[in-house]
Amino acid sequence: MKPIKKAVFPVAGMGSRFLPATKASPKEMLPIVDKPLIQYAAEEAVAAGITELIFVTGRGKRAIEDHFDKAYELEVELEQRGKTRLLEQVRNLLPPGVSCAYVRQAEALGLGHAILCAEPLVGDDPFAVLLADDLIDAKVSVLQQMVALYEKTGASVLGVQQVPREQTRQYGIVKTETTGNLQQIVGIVEKPSPEEAPSNLGVVGRYLLTPGIFDKLRGVRPGAGGEIQLTDGIAALLPQEKVLALPFDGVRYDCGSKLGYLKATVAYGVRHEEAGAEFRSWLAHSGLF
Ligand code: G1P
Repeated sequence: MKPIKKAVFPVAGMGSRFLPATKASPKEMLPIVDKPLIQYAAEEAVAAGITELIFVTGRGKRAIEDHFDKAYELEVELEQRGKTRLLEQVRNLLPPGVSCAYVRQAEALGLGHAILCAEPLVGDDPFAVLLADDLIDAKVSVLQQMVALYEKTGASVLGVQQVPREQTRQYGIVKTETTGNLQQIVGIVEKPSPEEAPSNLGVVGRYLLTPGIFDKLRGVRPGAGGEIQLTDGIAALLPQEKVLALPFDGVRYDCGSKLGYLKATVAYGVRHEEAGAEFRSWLAHSGLF
């Protein structure tokens, strides 16, 4: 079994739910306290043993590339001003030995299409997919939990959580069969209505996939929302390959929505090293509620 060393970050999306903030700046660069969403996702991947980060970018996403590049002028300036701690932070966004590669998705044709754009860089290896706007707070990172399951079984794994029935239209929804302590996916539908949903287990932005997905994605026609959906590629893979669902331990913040973003900001803010204590006491005494 090949180890999972590559992660794909589809970051070409428009971020229309955060306009005008995302008019000139990628939604993945929105900060939760002082770190952009894409940085949290990259750190989660690295913590799970991934060494090759592959970003599927698009128009207006250059800030993501700049974020992970070395910033000579900034480093010199921080050094001259004696700001050693900040200097260490900007220098060590990624540990040594981790590389970044970028590929463009020239047209926004859907998540499945974005993943297909990464094929030349992924090749014949199993890989992870992380959607940066799903920020997941967990003691053991979700991707690490998923990699552990992959290492035991060799199967593709999707991170899932119970979602409210009335919200099934926002997710890929899976149908599973339980054998022992494994939940095998036997069906998956993109954004079904609550009546059509096969369960209330939603896929939340974390996937471990075998390269077999690429062939399936090539055959996928536009589905929900007129887009080439990753979900439909996975559905086509099911008759041939085992795909497992992992209901993980952790709290997920949908940072693609204003409410989820605000919740994450507060949750990460109250325990932030530098600002947390004061923020907690301010919240408690603010008289806002
Ligand atoms: C995407 C996927 C969907 C998944 C969701 C998780 O949808 O297509 O299957 O459940 O991410 O956040 P999007 O939120 O991009 O519409």
